[in-house]
Parts: sequence; structure tokens; C-alpha cells
Amino acid sequence: MIHALGAIFSLIVPAAVHAGTTAVSESTSTLDNLQAAFDGESNANARYLAFAQKADEEGYGEVASLFRAAAKAEEIHAHNHAAVIEKMGGVPALKLEPTEVKTTRENLKVAIEGQKYERDIMYPEFIQTAKRQNASAAVRTFTLALKVEAVHAVLYQDALDNLETRTSERHTYYVCPDCGNTLEELNIMKCLICGHPKSGFIGVD
Ligand SMILES: [Fe+2]
Ligand SMILES: [Fe+2]
Repeated sequence: MIHALGAIFSLIVPAAVHAGTTAVSESTSTLDNLQAAFDGESNANARYLAFAQKADEEGYGEVASLFRAAAKAEEIHAHNHAAVIEKMGGVPALKLEPTEVKTTRENLKVAIEGQKYERDIMYPEFIQTAKRQNASAAVRTFTLALKVEAVHAVLYQDALDNLETRTSERHTYYVCPDCGNTLEELNIMKCLICGHPKSGFIGVD
């Protein structure tokens, strides 16, 4: 996982760093929005990996697995956004922010807020702009990410609501390699978000 993200970071041009999630209302360009989304997904990947480590330390192994699976999904979103940025002639750029790690209960609340922001505000605005600008590849990558963030919000909320009953054992989640869809069980024939066959799903624990 870390090695794969390293491939993203090798694309970084620090001088071209774009503001992160604060840029939503000001952004008028789909390329700018792709950069903001790439930055946001990459930071979410790093944040969830840090939250996973804390969950392990606190004996919440099952929740740690969820954070790692979601981190994998965010990595996939970042890769997908980066590919569209390059297709549009840009260079993917990001600024990794330091992660504030609290208790697992607090970390879950932070994760839920982040996913809701992307699901309800950031991606809907980016999709609208991309549609106006006929940027179909951007519409697709934003839409897939939005749908997966909605799944993550549910999984995180469930973990928070039932934290006391979550075990210390790891749990294998399954992540779609194309869209990042994140499943507790591999009980489907193909991805319900993007159609990828179940055989390609990545087990993450
Ligand atoms: Fe994401
Ligand atoms: Fe998928």
C-alpha cells in the first residue's frame, strides 16, 4: 500500500501545490478541482493509515482494518484523479498535511466528517463544474469517488456506533481496484458501483 502511494508521490511537483479542500467554492476549473481532489484523497490515505495504527494500539483491530481498507480506497481515488490530471495536461501535485491523531473514537468522528464533506459538498460541486465544462473523464472519476465516500461514511458510522462490540481481531475487507468500493464481505459477483468483477477485489486487513 505504502509502496503504491510512493508511486503517486513520485509525481509531486511541490511548487505546483494546490490548496486542499478549502478551495471548493473558489474553484472554477476542473483541472484545479482534480488537483484539490487528488490532494484531499492523498491526505485521507495518510490520515487513515495513522488512524489504523492508533486503533491497533488501542486494541481495536477490526476498526484498524477498516481504516486500512478505506486508506487503500483513497489511494485508488488519488491514482484515478492523477490519471485524469495527466490526461488534461497537468501534473498531479499535493501537500501532505500532518495528521492529528486522537483516540479511535475521535478519529472515527473526524473520518466521518471528512467523508460527508466529500460526499455532500466537494464532489457534487466538482461534478457540476466538470459537467458544465464537458470534462467527462473528470465527471466519472469524481462520481466514482463520491459513491465510495458514501460507503465509507456508513462503515465508519457503524464502527463508531458499535465501537464497544468491535473485536481486537483483524477483519478482511475487500476493495475494488477500479473505484475503491469497500466491502465487509465479498458477497457480490461484480462491483455495484463500477461493475468490476469480484475476482479482482483486493483483500485488506
Ligand atoms: Fe476517496
Ligand atoms: Fe468498483
